Amino acid sequence: MNTILVTGAAGFIGSNFVRTLLRDRPDCQVLALDGLTYAGNLENLADCLTDARCRFIRADICDVESLAPVFADGLSAVVNFAAESHVDRSILGAQAFARTNFVGVQVLLDLARKHEVQRFLQVSTDEVYGSLGETGLFTENTPLAANSPYSASKAAADLLVQAYHHTFGMPTLITRCSNNYGPYQFPEKLIPLFVTNLIEGKKVPLYGDGLNVRDWIHVQDHCDALLLVLERAMPGSLYNIGGNCELPNIEIAQRLLAHLGHDESMIERVKDRPGHDRRYAVDITRINNDLGWQPRVEFSSGLAETIDWYVSHKTWWTRIKSGEYLTYYEKQYGPSGVVGVKE
Ligand code: NAD
Ligand code: DAU
Repeated sequence: MNTILVTGAAGFIGSNFVRTLLRDRPDCQVLALDGLTYAGNLENLADCLTDARCRFIRADICDVESLAPVFADGLSAVVNFAAESHVDRSILGAQAFARTNFVGVQVLLDLARKHEVQRFLQVSTDEVYGSLGETGLFTENTPLAANSPYSASKAAADLLVQAYHHTFGMPTLITRCSNNYGPYQFPEKLIPLFVTNLIEGKKVPLYGDGLNVRDWIHVQDHCDALLLVLERAMPGSLYNIGGNCELPNIEIAQRLLAHLGHDESMIERVKDRPGHDRRYAVDITRINNDLGWQPRVEFSSGLAETIDWYVSHKTWWTRIKSGEYLTYYEKQYGPSGVVGVKE
C-alpha cells in the first residue's frame, strides 16, 4: 500500500495537494496531518475527508510523541507543508517560525530516518534566495540570502534537509516555489486579502510604492510539480518551481479592482513592510529539462477563476475573518480533540 503523510494538510497548498493526490493517485492512502494553528482550517479538507482513503490527524510536527505512532504504521513518503508561512507575522515575532519551520523539520527528518521512509519532500520557497535586482532569475545555484525571519527559518530547514541527505544518505527532496494563488488561501496573503476586502467594500492596503515584483503560479501547477518531484526526482535533488509570471503588486491590485468593478480610490497606500524583498523571479529550466514540467494555468484565466471562487465561497472566508472557523474542528471531533489521532 502507498501511504503518504502530508503535513500542513489543512493549510492552503497542503489541502490542494491532498485533493490532487486523491484525484490523481487512486491507489494511495493519505494521512492528512495538521496542528491546526490559526492558518489551519479543517474545512479546507471537508470534501477530502469523505474519501475513505484519507484520514485526518491533528498533531504538532514538533511533538515526537504524537508523531511516532503515525510513522510506526509504515509510510511510503512524507511531504512537509507544515510551516508558519506569513512574512509579516515573522516580523512581529520569529519564535513560532524558528520552532515549526526548523525544529519541526528536524523532528520529521529524525522520524523519517528511523522508519526508513523512502521519500521525504520538503516544500520550500524561492524567498530563501533573497531579493533580485531588476534583472536575473533565481536558479538552484543562487546562494541562500534570506532576508526575513520567515525565509531565514525556511533556508535553515533546507540546509538541515541537505545535511541529512549528505550525512545519512536520506532520500530527501527539496522544492522552492514562487508565490501561489488559488482557492483556500488564507485571507492574510495579498490576493485573497485584497479580493475579500473588495467584496466587503473595504480598501486594499498596498505596501510602499507597490512596485515589488512577485512571480505568480497557480496552486494546481505547484501541486502537479510536487507530485512529479515526489515520484520521479533523484534522491537528494533540489528543484525550483515558478509561474513564469512576474508582476508588480500594483498591477495585481489593478486587475482585482477591474474584475470586481472598483476604481483605484479603493487602494490605500500604506507603510512598507520592513526589509521588503523587491523582486522574485524563478528560473524553471532544471525541472523542465529533467521532469518535463512547466506551468499550465495562464495567469489571467487562473486569476479570474480564483476571484470567482472567493466570490462563490463567501461563507468560507467570512468564517475565517470572523474567527468562527476555529470551532469547526471541535464540532467535527468533539471537545477532547486537542492533539491526537482520530480513529
Ligand atoms: P499555510 O499557512 O496556508 O498552511 C500551513 C499549515 O501548516 C497550516 O494548516 C497550519 O495549521 C500548519 N502548521 C503550522 N504549524 C504547524 C505545526 N507546528 N505542526 C503541524 N502543522 C502546523 O501555508 P501555505 O501557503 O499552504 O504554505 C505551505 C508550505 O509551502 C509552507 O512550507 C510554505 O513555506 C511553502 N510555500 C508557500 C508558498 C505560497 O505562496 N503560499 C510558496 C512557496 C512555498
Ligand atoms: O515567494 C513565495 C512566498 O510567497 C511564500 O514562501 C510565502 O509563504 C508566501 O506568503 C508568499 O510571501 P510574500 O511575502 O511574497 O506574500 P504576501 O502575499 O504576503 O505578499 C505579496 C506581496 O504583496 C509582497 O510584495 C507584499 C505585498 N503586500 C502584501 C500584503 C499582505 C501588500 O502590498 N499588501 C498586503 O496587505
